[in-house]
Amino acid sequence: MTGKRGWIPENLDPARPSPARIYDYALGGGHNLASDRAIFDELVRIQPNARQIAWSNRAFMRRAVLFMIETGIRQFLDLGSGIPTVGNVHEIAQKAAPGSRVVYVDVEEVALAHSQLLLENEPDAAIVDADITYPDNVLKAPETLRLLDFSQPVGVLAVAVGHYIPADVDIHAAFEAYREAVPDGSALAISHFTADFEQVRAQEILETVQASAYNPACLRSRPEILALFGDFELVEPGLVPASGWRPDTTPPQSAVPEDDGIWAGVAIKKGTTA
Ligand SMILES: C[S@@+](CC[C@H](N)C(=O)[O-])C[C@H]1O[C@@H](n2cnc3c(N)ncnc32)[C@H](O)[C@@H]1O
Repeated sequence: MTGKRGWIPENLDPARPSPARIYDYALGGGHNLASDRAIFDELVRIQPNARQIAWSNRAFMRRAVLFMIETGIRQFLDLGSGIPTVGNVHEIAQKAAPGSRVVYVDVEEVALAHSQLLLENEPDAAIVDADITYPDNVLKAPETLRLLDFSQPVGVLAVAVGHYIPADVDIHAAFEAYREAVPDGSALAISHFTADFEQVRAQEILETVQASAYNPACLRSRPEILALFGDFELVEPGLVPASGWRPDTTPPQSAVPEDDGIWAGVAIKKGTTA
């Protein structure tokens, strides 16, 4: 249900910033409020390349989708998909491989409302309103069952969402459920904010974000993020700073990938017979 301004749901608390809208602002989108802009401006004071970090992450997502298309994947589950902005998964996938199907998943009101509007006349993509830490609510949603065929490889994307899952939630059980649900040949892409790189003031960013009546967030280390891939096999170059994952010539990318403060990688489910 949207209010007078179309994309603003009637029950939204404008004083409470949200990850989806802050990220939208960082990427230069128009679906954000003063509270979101204020916190992002504060983040830029802490970390002057904060906008570049957002773009590096978004660019990784695009490359990961195109890589999955190259491996033959034609259906995608985008966990924590955010507010539709430049280069949405169904647009990237369908341009490269017409007929590709995409299920988006998010919990944030504006992300849901705007995705519903955008996808109204899009038969091969839909948005599911679910918390990704409840995999059954995602995997058994009518839109998921309609669009995804779990006997065929699925590209699962968990791009810049893991760090919004608090430390006291069993993120490993959730990711295991997604890995289990898909067949051999499927792929999992993860990007995740971390405190592993000294040039990024991740702890200060986390504290600023947590002080804002905003979702809990959690920084994870490289071994913790690696564990989310389970026994899927990482493709080259492995889990690396986002801009360093198979860089192409499409800007923008950080000249020094470590400046992204984000680990990123893609892994394939090989199974025992591969
Ligand atoms: C930074 S955005 C990332 C958007 C997109 N994946 C990308 O990387 O361009 C993170 C998104 O994850 C969503 N999110 C956070 N926690 C979530 C949860 N537990 N379940 C579903 N979505 C969640 C937020 O609402 C937000 O839209």
